[in-house]
Amino acid sequence: MPVATIEWTGELPGAARLIDQTLLPGEVRHLDLDRAEPMWEAIRALRVRGAPAIGIAAAFGLVAGVQHFTGGDRTAFAAEVARVAAYLRTSRPTAVNLFWALDRMERRRAADAAHDVGSQLRGLLAEARAIEAEDKAMCRAIGRHGLALVRDGTVALTHCNAGGLATADYGTALAPFFAAHAAGRRFRVFADETRPLLQGARLTAWELQQAGIDVTLICDGMAAAAMRERQVDLVLVGADRIAANGDTANKIGTYGVAVLARHHGVPFYVAAPTSTFDLTLANGSQIPIEERAGAEITHGFGRPTAPAGVKTWNPAFDVTPRELIAGIITEHGILERPDARRITDHFARHHAGARTAAAHHQGAAP
Ligand code: MRU
Repeated sequence: MPVATIEWTGELPGAARLIDQTLLPGEVRHLDLDRAEPMWEAIRALRVRGAPAIGIAAAFGLVAGVQHFTGGDRTAFAAEVARVAAYLRTSRPTAVNLFWALDRMERRRAADAAHDVGSQLRGLLAEARAIEAEDKAMCRAIGRHGLALVRDGTVALTHCNAGGLATADYGTALAPFFAAHAAGRRFRVFADETRPLLQGARLTAWELQQAGIDVTLICDGMAAAAMRERQVDLVLVGADRIAANGDTANKIGTYGVAVLARHHGVPFYVAAPTSTFDLTLANGSQIPIEERAGAEITHGFGRPTAPAGVKTWNPAFDVTPRELIAGIITEHGILERPDARRITDHFARHHAGARTAAAHHQGAAP
């Protein structure tokens, strides 16, 4: 990535520095956030977005929020960590990485409970940095595993943005493209613009173009024609939450792309780290789907594009049933034809720390 999506600057006190993605591609502006409230707002407003990046942002946001704690009372510090974590959990409901990261941060504080407050705070920053570092390694591993899918001559299609701007490194769904490009392969990518907030146009097309990858931007409604007339032979998307049976929530429109892919005989792959699995949910009908303001549809980027007062429905995500998914690329390999048994096996084999039935603190929209 030409610019770091999110990082911690300074030590303690310090700040989470992130790119304000709402301004891209026109302007690359960094924000330094040293409290929980602006981080909550940044997550809610999609200044930082994409499931893994939201998890990292929440972890740094927790540190930012509790770094101003004064005094040495460990019980009061524990209560403050719990309060700020509960607050950050209300920022967005669908990407499970947010809850996964905050669960992990709270476990770290509990493990350090016998230490003084300063040590506990340093422990929290170390944990957030570990989440960020592991995310980088995860991206590279997904890139390596997904490389086999991107051959010379491949024509791929992706939806939304699951690239560097959604992670700490070069993404999940875009990682195999970056890896294939580095390996000298020649291929093409169609990027759906991704209504209503245009993550595909503003972010994915920007990232791929900067990397020198052959990218063609299309409107969402052109995906069917692209599959039939432009010989698309691979669909690769990210995920916000994957249920125990493989049903996958991702940006609104992904389900439609999966149906189109099935109709045209195109393999549909999901790329996501194991931190995006929520094994507490039996299937996708239980995944909380964020609904956002209707103004995102009626006033695209400021200008009215619909009659005043028209009714809207604006779910930010949809669920693709597992039957439509050819495979899920995790940091451990490709999980072909996902179902509950294969997912259980994948986790058992790799001892991954996803949310399990024992996990607590289910997040809820405010
Ligand atoms: O609303 P967003 O922009 O946060 O939605 C992002 C997506 O749907 C991504 O595809 C998903 O989070 C995977 S990011 C690696």
